[in-house]
Amino acid sequence: MIIKEPFDRLVIIAYRLPFKFVKSKEGFKAIQNAGGLVSAILALSESFKKSKNTLVNNKILWSGVGDHLPEPGKIENEHFDIVPVRIPARLNDQFYGGFSNDLIWPLFHYFSSYSVIKNNYFEAYKEANILFCQEIIKHIKPGDFIWIHDYQLLLLPEMIRQKIPDATIGFFLHIPFPSYEIFRQLPRPWRDAIIQGMLGADLIGFHTHDYTQHFIKSVKRTTGFECRQNVIFTSNKVVKADAFPIGIDFEKFHQASYDKAVLKEKDKIRKSLGEQKLVFSVDRLDYTKGLLSRLLGFETFLEKNPGWRSKVVFNMVVVPSRDSIEKYKEMKKEIESTVGRINGRFSTLSWRPLVYQYKTLSFNELVALYDISDVGLITPLRDGMNLVAKEFVASQRENLDALILSEMAGAAAELNEALIINPADNNEIAEAILTALEMSPLEKKTRIERMQNRIASYNVFTWAHDFFNQTNEIKSQQNMMRVKYINPGITGTIAMAYQKAGRRILFLDYDGTLVAFAKYPELAVIDKTTLKIVKKLASDPRNHIVIISGRGKEFLEKQFGTVPVTLVAEHGYFIKKAGEAWESTISADAQWKEAVMPILKEYVDRCNGTFIEEKTGSLAWHYRNADMDFAQLRLNELRDDLAEIIRHKTDFEILEGHKVLEVKSGKYDKGQAAAVLIAKEYYDFILAAGDDKTDEFLFQAIPDFGYTIRVGLSPSFARYNVPDTDSLLTLLQTLMR
Ligand code: UDP
Ligand code: G6P
Repeated sequence: MIIKEPFDRLVIIAYRLPFKFVKSKEGFKAIQNAGGLVSAILALSESFKKSKNTLVNNKILWSGVGDHLPEPGKIENEHFDIVPVRIPARLNDQFYGGFSNDLIWPLFHYFSSYSVIKNNYFEAYKEANILFCQEIIKHIKPGDFIWIHDYQLLLLPEMIRQKIPDATIGFFLHIPFPSYEIFRQLPRPWRDAIIQGMLGADLIGFHTHDYTQHFIKSVKRTTGFECRQNVIFTSNKVVKADAFPIGIDFEKFHQASYDKAVLKEKDKIRKSLGEQKLVFSVDRLDYTKGLLSRLLGFETFLEKNPGWRSKVVFNMVVVPSRDSIEKYKEMKKEIESTVGRINGRFSTLSWRPLVYQYKTLSFNELVALYDISDVGLITPLRDGMNLVAKEFVASQRENLDALILSEMAGAAAELNEALIINPADNNEIAEAILTALEMSPLEKKTRIERMQNRIASYNVFTWAHDFFNQTNEIKSQQNMMRVKYINPGITGTIAMAYQKAGRRILFLDYDGTLVAFAKYPELAVIDKTTLKIVKKLASDPRNHIVIISGRGKEFLEKQFGTVPVTLVAEHGYFIKKAGEAWESTISADAQWKEAVMPILKEYVDRCNGTFIEEKTGSLAWHYRNADMDFAQLRLNELRDDLAEIIRHKTDFEILEGHKVLEVKSGKYDKGQAAAVLIAKEYYDFILAAGDDKTDEFLFQAIPDFGYTIRVGLSPSFARYNVPDTDSLLTLLQTLMR
């Protein structure tokens, strides 16, 4: 497969380097580190070397913390250049043992009661992320794709972004992202920092759709940023979050079953098993893996099925991991005593039901055991994905097995032909073991083949390419928006046109443009500085300043009563020139309100935090203070209900703005109001600024030579964007210098 990647080099940053280095007679021997992250990225890197990919000319750069690192320069690897990050042991205890594995790991896996919050943990986490950042930026070149992995480095994307604003940065989380109810258990400054840190990336990947949605909800709740279909509009760029279920190198496992060395391993195992059936499991030592559940499930199976005793052996391999952390030490002890108890209970002189091994397996041993066993028993209580399950399925060649898989593993979404169990239920596990052992060869074959087809097609390479492609897409979306972003050059051009002009008209929207949004509309009053700017603009006899808003006339008059400006209220329903009285531009009765008001009231009751604003020609349902996801749901229903009335009454229409649905009399808008004013006089400078969907009508009404500016980062008919109200006010001040 020849794949042309759009970047020059892949830079992987993960807490762990792929290998630990052990001193041997010949120098240093590299031994693969345990865990799904290393397995996946290693497979990917090896494949880049094998396939004629543009990346082959540039080795992958992998940066991470390594155990027992040899001197720099002595680390040679055909697939990578290795950039070690050195973290002092005491700092590492707080960063890795503390914040990462004593807090984030248990919390994100829904083991809240295991999570420990200590103030110095976060400081250490930040410091360690800074050390990563300092090291990596020394090595980054233009054209690099920086891919940051996992929960130990949640702050790093934004740290790198601050140093290299144009960098292409992807972030992938290998563990679940929990629901907001869990995430909010973190102290507020920490959760804000985590979300900001992650949003430094261009693309943020998760294993499943659920984790992505949980993340987006947390973004909305912590930052208030607008999110549309997985795209997050931050204050300075768009970021995408999406699901990329990680895969494996299917062919590597599938082919390995027939390798000579693996066949030899299988022979050895077969001989020691004799006629006995083999149930097999392998996992890192971790309380999330449900190691006790599988032991207890197997015990229940033996209890309930005496006929199977002495005919089946359960080989449980536990790979050493994090055993310096208290909870892991406790777990290990508990496993060992449970194994001892069950073996003591059922063993005979010639048979031991459980073979427990606390060790790392070689690749050949692993594939041999995957294939030779009769049942794979994988029972995590919570797992981001679980690659063991996929590797197990891929390795089935000679002796097709049945797979028992917990519904709590991310992999369960793709492996639904497995026997899916709830790991908390010993009886269900016991029944699944019996079903698996008694399953007909035809049924095993059917189930395994279906799963194999699926994981062969969305493998680790498809996963990575999908990620790279989507990064490219979001990058081009950012670029499209960036060209519209106002910069000092454009500001200079606008200022020059302003200075040169003989007669100018400036349309300024109110909420979100001159004044930031407040919890309730009546609280969003104009401050002194902004009023001073508007006054100064209005005091120039060459200027005609128009405040053009959806607000009611009384409110606008209260804010600008003393300033010689034209006020346009209710999206153009009313207009008031300086020193004159209000006029209405249309003659509409608002009979429809009688039918619409009760419906809106019903939605206020059905959606907490929403409220109605009544104006002469309209009724607005505001949902800015409600739970956004819930409000979105209600909004859809409300649209349907209103559409039903519109079928019978045509004297009103629906207008949607920023967190508001407005029902108003007839077809008038800010664009029409602006066009009338522009047509009345000759202007050689026109500027319009707004922040909302309703301002798009205004932008469209401005002639091509005019300057239109949208506040906030949204696609728009406006020529330019500024990030916020402050930037707009600065621009207005620059014009008058
Ligand atoms: N694995 C390993 N050493 C072993 C046995 C297994 O490195 O002795 C690998 C296994 O092949 C798999 C990974 O460890 O690729 C475990 O990944 P998984 O997603 O199942 O769980 P994680 O360890 O990431 O929580
Ligand atoms: C999981 C995590 C990885 C971690 C690995 C091994 O796969 O997602 O980030 O590296 O476990 O854990 P360890 O603590 O030994 O690095």
